[in-house]
Amino acid sequence: MSLQYQWFPGHMAKAMRMMQEHIKLIDLLVEIVDARAPLSSRNPEVAKLARGKFCMILLNKADLADPGANKAWAEYFASQGISAVELDARQSKGMTEIRSRMREACREKIERDKKRGIKNRPIRAMVCGIPNVGKSTFVNSLAGRGAAKTGNKPGVTKGKQWISLEGNLELLDTPGVLWPRFEDPRAGRHLAFLGSIKDDILPVEEMAWELYQALESDYGDRIEARYGLRPQGNGEEVLGQLALARNCLAKGGGPDLARFSALLVEDFRSGRLGRISLERPETGPAGERV
Ligand code: G4P
Repeated sequence: MSLQYQWFPGHMAKAMRMMQEHIKLIDLLVEIVDARAPLSSRNPEVAKLARGKFCMILLNKADLADPGANKAWAEYFASQGISAVELDARQSKGMTEIRSRMREACREKIERDKKRGIKNRPIRAMVCGIPNVGKSTFVNSLAGRGAAKTGNKPGVTKGKQWISLEGNLELLDTPGVLWPRFEDPRAGRHLAFLGSIKDDILPVEEMAWELYQALESDYGDRIEARYGLRPQGNGEEVLGQLALARNCLAKGGGPDLARFSALLVEDFRSGRLGRISLERPETGPAGERV
């Protein structure tokens, strides 16, 4: 059986309304996605907001994703006329380039202003992204100071704030939001794997088994390298063998499935299983042609 993941608490609906109210003030929409699953981590509600605005996509956590897939994604979005940049938001060194890419994305507006005799009107950008995608980290790096609070739980970024930046840019930070219904349940799964859905509401063993199945064909060798075996069988058997190999033991000496499941998910999220992409441009979120 496959699980249905969904998480859309009231504060996200409220944040989306705030974004809708502010969109008229904005020139540029900067959407941060997770490079490991750029389709699933794009919010369709944000795509609606983006109509008529200059847009760019930041493929964040690119350091955790497959380098070949990152390149393919940047090309894929470029072919759709959207500027997309690979990013590790924790590194401040790429931020000068990001600022110039933001101005570049709004070149038409800057030229239009010039023709009208308007000088130095700042570019106003709204930064959007689903929870845990690295939005606060990005805003901190871009602003070059502790402008936004980062935290390790989805939904930490609260309220709204404008931030003035070097290079005549103004940034509106927004809270991490998901959307009311995942049309494709596989998108919900990918977001759960990435840590964008609150873990407390997720059944960890089922999620770990689904993650294992998602990784098995392309990245089975990584699992083998990390845990020292290639397990066989159903979910309980596979997780059980891996738990024993990892010394995750319950009282009485049997495998502690819950503890191992949390560990497998964390090993994926943190990159301890190596650089992994769940999605590629030639395939949809579940490996089907789009
Ligand atoms: P959010 O505002 O979108 O919810 O995300 P936030 O910036 O809080 O980042 C969530 C986690 O992802 C943080 O880790 C952060 O350090 C990490 N992160 C952000 N961008 C990148 C990136 O490009 N690459 C990698 N590898 N990690 C990134 P954490 O463990 O939850 O917190 P911390 O211990 O790092 O503070």
